[in-house]
Amino acid sequence: MPYFDFAGNEPTITGACGVMLETDQGEIIDAESGYWCTPLGHGYQPVKTVSAAGYYCDLGTARHPPATELARQLCERLGYSKAIFLASGSSAVDCAIRVAFQATSSGKSIRSGLVSLKGSYHGSTGLTLMAAGSSYSRWLPTGGPVVHSIKGDIFGGPGVRNVPTAEPLSDVDWRDVASFVFEPIQGAGGVRELPVRAYDLLARQTWAHGGIVIADEVCTGIGRGGFLARSEVYENRPDILVLGKGLTNGEQPLSALLLSESVVSRIESSTNHPSVRYLWGETMGGTPAACMAALAVLEHVSNPTFLGKVRKTAASFKTLLVQTVGPLGPVVEVRAPHGAMMFGVKLASKSVADHACALALAKGVRLICEGSCIVLMPALVMQGRVWKRICSVMADSILEAAGALE
Ligand SMILES: Cc1ncc(COP(=O)(O)O)c(C=O)c1O
Repeated sequence: MPYFDFAGNEPTITGACGVMLETDQGEIIDAESGYWCTPLGHGYQPVKTVSAAGYYCDLGTARHPPATELARQLCERLGYSKAIFLASGSSAVDCAIRVAFQATSSGKSIRSGLVSLKGSYHGSTGLTLMAAGSSYSRWLPTGGPVVHSIKGDIFGGPGVRNVPTAEPLSDVDWRDVASFVFEPIQGAGGVRELPVRAYDLLARQTWAHGGIVIADEVCTGIGRGGFLARSEVYENRPDILVLGKGLTNGEQPLSALLLSESVVSRIESSTNHPSVRYLWGETMGGTPAACMAALAVLEHVSNPTFLGKVRKTAASFKTLLVQTVGPLGPVVEVRAPHGAMMFGVKLASKSVADHACALALAKGVRLICEGSCIVLMPALVMQGRVWKRICSVMADSILEAAGALE
């Protein structure tokens, strides 16, 4: 659906409840959980009741109790030392990359490298687009922007490396790499999981040369990956963990960066001037209302019983999906990382995938395509009978689209 075409024929969403979208063309099942933001379904009551705090407080010069409590809970539950709150996934990953440059600098020497994975998506700022690589950054200068400053300051941006996991890493100058940034499971990249062994290899290589490992869990965090953070499955945890999307169940803009103790102490020693140490704030980052909404979400999503149920449901959804669409001719692969509420149905052709999504929408199911992969991220609380309907509509739509385009 084009962003700017507000006069198109697509349904206009006028409201939502649970996993159902209300539109001007009738009710539609939301198989994308509000584009990955509503793990608990639309209009989750405990979040709704706190989403107007009645006061504002910036975190740059002051503090407020909801932010303090949210930082405490996130850090305690996930094993980090400090939290920074921002307003979007993009600005949080951008900030994480900047923190890594700051933490790895020594004296006047600043590293210029960043390692990312092919197919990744990290947001829509200049830095995160570059980190995601070729197609997203096609309108940006290669090798990073050169800022021509009238006052004589020239800032050279990072040189970005895209490393396919299967290839040897020997052509990377790791001594110049400030950070390795990755998604434990790529979302926009078509639901591809970074194998634990590949994570270990890349993380060890980064650490061996003093770099910082950043897990972008904007998509996989808050239960979507089957855990509060998917990176909890790694033996050696990332230095910086980024959360966004589901943090407030889509009711408020909020993202968070969690920093390990070692990153914090490197930042503390990067400059003697406290006033330039933490230049990461954002006016709408971590507002009282957003933090209160996140606390209500955490209360539900961080419960181990709830997370265990998510993994069990994901396993049964995978079985049904594989049975229903796996044998279809146009389907190349069904992707369903273990325990995660993230599924991908890779087709041979992008046009068939696009057409199948349009047909499914007309039949009352909202699906989205990332290239030739249909990506499904239902609410974590979706019922089996609704999933069955999604699978059946998707199977019919794929066959119909393939027939029409043959
Ligand atoms: C893994 C990942 N990182 C970052 C982002 C950017 O988040 P936002 O759209 O909130 O800026 C996204 C959004 O899809 C994402 O999936």
